[in-house]
Amino acid sequence: MKLADRFPKLGTETAFAVAAETQRHAQQGARVFPFHLGDIDLKTPQNIIEAAYRAMKDGKTGYCSNYGITELRDALAEQINRSHRTSYSGANVAVQPGGKPVIQKFFLSLMNHADEVLIPAPGYPIYESIVAFHGGKPVLYPYREGPEGFGLDLEDLEKRITPATRFLVFNNLQNPTGAEEDERGLAALSELVLRHNLLVLCDEAYFDIRYAGQSGSLVSFPGMEERCLVLYTFSKKYAMTGWRLGAAVGPQDLVDGIAKLNVNDESCSNQFVQYAGLEALTGPQDGARAIVRTLQQRRDRCHELLGAIPDMRCHRPDATFYLFPNVTAVMQRMGFGHYEDFRKAALEATEVYFCTRLHFGTPLAEERERYIRLSYSGIGIDGIEEGLHRLRDFIAGKKA
Ligand SMILES: Cc1ncc(COP(=O)(O)O)c(C=O)c1O
Repeated sequence: MKLADRFPKLGTETAFAVAAETQRHAQQGARVFPFHLGDIDLKTPQNIIEAAYRAMKDGKTGYCSNYGITELRDALAEQINRSHRTSYSGANVAVQPGGKPVIQKFFLSLMNHADEVLIPAPGYPIYESIVAFHGGKPVLYPYREGPEGFGLDLEDLEKRITPATRFLVFNNLQNPTGAEEDERGLAALSELVLRHNLLVLCDEAYFDIRYAGQSGSLVSFPGMEERCLVLYTFSKKYAMTGWRLGAAVGPQDLVDGIAKLNVNDESCSNQFVQYAGLEALTGPQDGARAIVRTLQQRRDRCHELLGAIPDMRCHRPDATFYLFPNVTAVMQRMGFGHYEDFRKAALEATEVYFCTRLHFGTPLAEERERYIRLSYSGIGIDGIEEGLHRLRDFIAGKKA
């Protein structure tokens, strides 16, 4: 069947393609070391599971408001106000089936044909896909590697702004690089946003996945609450990726638009899952803390083992559950010119699945360095050790 004319513009999250490949191999009995997907192999905390069960037994199984249940909207506004120095109320929250739908609904609500949108490169591939699909123009801005890790170059970003630029997608605590801006960087970015009258999608999927310091948000700065939409998700912090629960938090007129899209799309988010989300926010936090502790142990071990791989260079971000090692010298020494050749050869030799820079949007013409992304959210310490030893042996030239 011929799909609509606009379909070729729709991209995908190619990490899911790697996941399908992994599943096929696992079904054929192959050992699999899953470093490719941002899914979490840890259990959702028990109190959250029980709250969902209780809600189901209490009959919270029908439709509910397209905005989400009031208790969850209020609790989320309160929680974000505490961590973000904002003044939201429940009216600023539209509950969503996951964080991802916020991306599409933000652009469907605000973007007109040929509007330009600043999108991080490398970055979560869905931004580029959705903007192009709905007739906008993605304009990529780079995250560059420096001695301390990856970061933004605001001067460079500003040069990419034209009279047609209306939107910025900002993913602080960034997938895939782990980059984050400090208070000074955020303040400078907020000034740039005001100078150019931009509207911002603040993707904060990893806001609470951090191992040291404190997460900062663009929305905390003067003038930002009126022009930012925060993407909130329960997926990562509470190991709830498959529950599909998130929210759009921002100016009320935009939230009303998004809630109208909800009616036209999924009607409402799953009601008993929202009660589970309420428990996640207001109940004991030991489960969430344990998840972050486990992830930190994995990060440390991964980083240590990657550091022992010849020619590989890897920073250690304090947030997200990704590492983004530089493999330029590795690929050069091993004679790989193309990412997919390297990824597939590594996979065949080691059964280690990872993503490469190519899974994170269109590369900029100026990019010279090569990177892969390893996620440690779906693999325990034993798998990390064996997988990365195999990867080391492959890269060092020993048979895995
Ligand atoms: C940067 C970023 N934003 C949004 C999402 C969406 O997460 P979810 O839809 O599971 O809440 C992800 C998931 O991996 C992500 O990495």
